[in-house]
Amino acid sequence: MFKVQNHKDFTEQQAAIIIGISEKNKKVEGLLGELDEQLAGQITELLKEGDISPKKNKIVKIHTFGKTSFKRIFVVGLGREEKLNFEEIRKVFGRVSKTIQESKLSSIAVALDTFVTDSTDVLDVAHALGEAIPLATYIYDGYKKKSNEPEIKLEEVTVITDTDIEEVQASLQVGFQFGTGTNSARTLVNLPGNMLTATDMANYAAELASKYGFELEILEKEDMEKLGMGALLAVNKGSVEPPKMIVLKYQGKEEWTDVIGLVGKGITFDTGGYSIKPKYGIVGMKSDMGGAASVLGAMEVIGELKPEQNVVAVIASTDNMINGNAFKPDDVITSMSGKTIEILNTDAEGRLVLADAITYAKHHGANYLVDVATLTGGVIIALGNHTTGALTNNEALFEQILEASHEAGEEMWRLPIFEHAKERVRNSKVADLNNSPGRDGHAIFAAAFIGEFAEDTPWVHLDIAGTATAKSNYDLGPAGGTGVMVRTLVTFVLRFGETEEV
Ligand code: BES
Ligand code: ZN
Ligand code: ZN
Repeated sequence: MFKVQNHKDFTEQQAAIIIGISEKNKKVEGLLGELDEQLAGQITELLKEGDISPKKNKIVKIHTFGKTSFKRIFVVGLGREEKLNFEEIRKVFGRVSKTIQESKLSSIAVALDTFVTDSTDVLDVAHALGEAIPLATYIYDGYKKKSNEPEIKLEEVTVITDTDIEEVQASLQVGFQFGTGTNSARTLVNLPGNMLTATDMANYAAELASKYGFELEILEKEDMEKLGMGALLAVNKGSVEPPKMIVLKYQGKEEWTDVIGLVGKGITFDTGGYSIKPKYGIVGMKSDMGGAASVLGAMEVIGELKPEQNVVAVIASTDNMINGNAFKPDDVITSMSGKTIEILNTDAEGRLVLADAITYAKHHGANYLVDVATLTGGVIIALGNHTTGALTNNEALFEQILEASHEAGEEMWRLPIFEHAKERVRNSKVADLNNSPGRDGHAIFAAAFIGEFAEDTPWVHLDIAGTATAKSNYDLGPAGGTGVMVRTLVTFVLRFGETEEV
């Protein structure tokens, strides 16, 4: 995809070059100056007339009629330089990528150094470009009848820079992996429940394992029965699809110590069970495996980048269906941990499957836990559709996750778990816990419930019910599955242990 070179001389004419121009640096010099000369001062003229402008979001295409090494020049307005941080530059590249896609160009050149500002260095900019291209051009057309028009995709990007070619190449590649891993998660989320069952998800994980050499374990229903995974089994009771507990192990250190556990909710469709969802609330529940998708997307990037960390991914997968055998409100079940749970609401199924997944991650040696789940409508009411809710039992681990989310450009906000929330989930006359203490602050109760299974292990819970899908198109992707948290999880894993001790 990427070729990096120090000079702008090409043996063949290139389809297009992308050049940034900011409010501060709107001089026609350097590469732009050379192109201006070849075009007999046309660029200076266009700038004077206001047709080209450093205004943010303005992308102008100039056709050179064969007078330069590039058939077209895209001049990208960067706005005020001081506002152009890493996150903004990634969005700028997102908009550029969409423009290129609309222009149906399969190869472009990018004058990378023209996008570098005081707050970003060239390697950040390279990462942003590498990430934005796959993210912004991602399309999921599912099972629509294909049109006869030939598909033209961006396949070759020549990056021109005055700096170190190898370092820039490496950053582009890392960014590209972040973007592709996110796209894989998006596709998993977009797949309908009949096309992505727990068995399909297990097969997908097995493919990742064989591609990257992960250790793979897939627990079948009988294995779960032997291990006493009564919580996951209860949710699966009303289904004709077998449940799967999927484990992927990546060992990047000599010893299996300091193990990070990434745990995902993999409900392939959530009807709500006997506490059934209303007819409008049920549509879209194919995305209830968004947490599992994020974990699998992150594992793909980890497999590509091979960091010196130990990671165990645990995904609890089933659909939540209704039949004569389904679990019901008032049932009492026993989780793998031994804790008993009174079922008050079968739609609060995510915390149940996560309870056994968390216990099983610890069983596999996880010393730190991060779970990702489309867990509650409550988090959407509290934080909306752009901000992931985070809850924790450990300040230092949370700080590392938050830091990673900032770097990845994925918004996150913490909600508290105070003592009274723990009391509410422990309030049952017939069992150790109840799975639904009420609707007042239920994002917090859900987390408090999972915390009962994390126990003393440092743990962060990420509720992505609002962020796993997007209602409309945005700079870095289309409506539908967002692949949220893939980049945060990977950044966290790559940086783990660099800063504060947990
Ligand atoms: N899968 C849902 C949460 C959800 C809601 C995800 C909207 C995405 C969009 C979860 O299993 C659920 O149904 N939660 C209940 C919890 C309640 C029963 C305490 C909810 O949010 O209403
Ligand atoms: Zn539910
Ligand atoms: Zn659910």
